[in-house]
Amino acid sequence: MPAIPPAAPQRPLELALVVPTFNERGNVAELVARVDRVLAGVVWELIFVDDDSPDGTAAVVRALGLADPRIRCIRRVGRRGLASACVEGMLSSHAPYLAVMDADLQHDEALLAPMLAVLRQEPVDLVVGSRYVAGGGVAGWQASRQRMSQFATRLSQRLLRVDVSDPMSGFFMLRREVLEASVYRLSSIGFKILLDLMVSSPTPLRVKELPYQFRNRHAGESKLDQRVAWDYLMLLADKTVGRYIPTRLLSFGLIGASGVLVHLAVLRLLLAGLGSSFTAAQTLAVTVAMVGNFALNNALTYRDQQLHGWRMLGGLLTFMAACSIGAVANVGVASYLYGGHTGWLLSGLAGILVGTVWNYGATAWLVWVRRP
Ligand code: GDD
Ligand code: MN
Repeated sequence: MPAIPPAAPQRPLELALVVPTFNERGNVAELVARVDRVLAGVVWELIFVDDDSPDGTAAVVRALGLADPRIRCIRRVGRRGLASACVEGMLSSHAPYLAVMDADLQHDEALLAPMLAVLRQEPVDLVVGSRYVAGGGVAGWQASRQRMSQFATRLSQRLLRVDVSDPMSGFFMLRREVLEASVYRLSSIGFKILLDLMVSSPTPLRVKELPYQFRNRHAGESKLDQRVAWDYLMLLADKTVGRYIPTRLLSFGLIGASGVLVHLAVLRLLLAGLGSSFTAAQTLAVTVAMVGNFALNNALTYRDQQLHGWRMLGGLLTFMAACSIGAVANVGVASYLYGGHTGWLLSGLAGILVGTVWNYGATAWLVWVRRP
């Protein structure tokens, strides 16, 4: 039998570029072409982490990967999330240097080689592509988005004592040791994986920022929406009080509090505006508040396992049933304490606490079940 000839010796893999994608089919081929050009002479691999994009991004990547084995696709089914996609992509590689970059060509690929040169030659752990150091900038952003970005940046700098001009950047390169050291502490919530990595590091990181111009999107649409802002607040919460309160519980509690306001508003509207009977008005107000709470929790607290279609309807009914038991527990505990001469405020708050924790636990278990 003829022996298989030994493969030509290869230089070892040096750089893995991780690109999260959701509906980016119009961008991946161009991205691959540009990366191939700017990283000539480097042994690299390109890992797309696609959350089962409905536009078929994964199929486009697969076709590219058949022609060029340096290109891979991790396709996650039933999952969403930019930060968690980046983490899983990085963990899947053996490369000593890891980079993260968006698929839509807003990040300047010409910066990849200089970033790698810094890590090779300088005592630096992390190189950040920055819009906010001299020479960097954003093209075509509305003033409102610019203000939002600056506000979010300042918030993290203040709250988390991060000393980097652009901690919101989605474009960076690091030594794999940085990931290994912080991986167990990562929150992996939302969009801001760089901030997460920096704050989760057990030792201060040696960071260098290189300027670049944030360009306009090549093809497709941005996924940045109001939920990204909520996720960002949850990331900040997790990084500050997360040791004491799980973020999902916090999110659930805040939405619950908003439900109380909705309830009172509906009640007042029905009583004053329509002259309904109190019982009818209260019943409708509870229903509206519950439906609203369910919708918000489904969209925000459990965004990563959001229910759709018939499952959503089933989820709503289960949610209402579980929360009714929570309401009974709430009233029971509060009445018991009040009967034992605890003040009304403390009794009421204790009831709310017990009810909320019950609702949270029961709905996490019954409504937003993680399906294997
Ligand atoms: N796998 C996966 N899952 N990828 C996602 C998801 C998701 O749920 N949501 C977005 N992406 C991918 C997009 O396909 C794109 O490649 C990249 O993440 C960034 O998404 P955009 O929708 O283009 O975000 P943006 O341009 O508004 O914001 C980006 O740039 C900012 C400045 O660097 C993000 O990287 C921000 O985090 C960053 O602050
Ligand atoms: Mn983008």
